[in-house]
Amino acid sequence: MADVSVETRLRTLEQLIRDAECREHDGVLKVGVDLGTANIAMVVVDRHNAPITGITYPSSVVKDGIVVDYLSATRVVKHLKQQLEARLGQALTHAATAIPPGISEGNTKVIANVVESSGLLVTHVVDEPVAAATALNMRNGAVVDVGGGTTGLSVLRNGKVLFSADEPTGGTHMTLVLAGALGLTYADAEQVKHDPAQEADIFPLVRPVVVEKMACLTRDWLTAYNVRNIHVVGGASSFSEFPGVFRKVTGKNIIPAVEPLLVTPLGIAMQAAP
Ligand SMILES: Nc1ncnc2c1ncn2[C@@H]1O[C@H](COP(=O)(O)OP(=O)(O)OP(=O)(O)O)[C@@H](O)[C@H]1O
Ligand SMILES: [Mg+2]
Repeated sequence: MADVSVETRLRTLEQLIRDAECREHDGVLKVGVDLGTANIAMVVVDRHNAPITGITYPSSVVKDGIVVDYLSATRVVKHLKQQLEARLGQALTHAATAIPPGISEGNTKVIANVVESSGLLVTHVVDEPVAAATALNMRNGAVVDVGGGTTGLSVLRNGKVLFSADEPTGGTHMTLVLAGALGLTYADAEQVKHDPAQEADIFPLVRPVVVEKMACLTRDWLTAYNVRNIHVVGGASSFSEFPGVFRKVTGKNIIPAVEPLLVTPLGIAMQAAP
């Protein structure tokens, strides 16, 4: 299991986001902005990495690290920043953001520009798996990030990314499979997917075509690496049966994250300058 402080931090952040609240702070704040395919997240921590506040917004303005709707992206980031500033009673001035491994310098610049258009100065651009590893307090092993658009694997050694790979299979594909199998619209299938009460009925539909595929990719990517533990993060890993499929296919020790949606956003804020 993850260590207690990691779990506590993630659960605290989830509660602060859910209740739109902020914790007392001494004014020294670190900000992280995660421009994901399914969600944009902005997280604020103090200098000791204790969560202070955060906000997430469902969005389709970025696809796997590439900004596809610049104007809307800038509007969303600006709006999220304003909401957090109102909560905190203070201006946010600088931030860290993150990129999936392997995206071009040009696309990285666009990501930073989106964040800077809100008035935040970007001081750090970190690799998403490094951010996830920071939040999980791990320096060695593998992280699989199952997001909206892609499944990405990174192997870390001494806190540095040794190997990364990704494939365009994520939560969006699960929703498409469910929509097709159940004759639902995409939006209705997305709702069904999020309902824990329906997991027993719907997981068998996505397991063979999506989850086992993700697990096989992970197993094959890891053949050259001597890795025992795989940490699993990202919203699409939220199913309770998800780690079991990965365990069976890869034969590795699978460590699911508490609050899988928030691991990378929290890690980005932790990597920011105070
Ligand atoms: N409780 C849940 N059960 C199943 N799927 C979920 C749940 N919560 C979120 N998801 C799915 O997780 C995905 C979003 O995860 P996440 O926020 O980690 O992705 P992202 O960072 O926006 O995307 P990417 O990392 O691919 O750019 C969506 O496909 C969403 O439907
Ligand atoms: Mg992501």
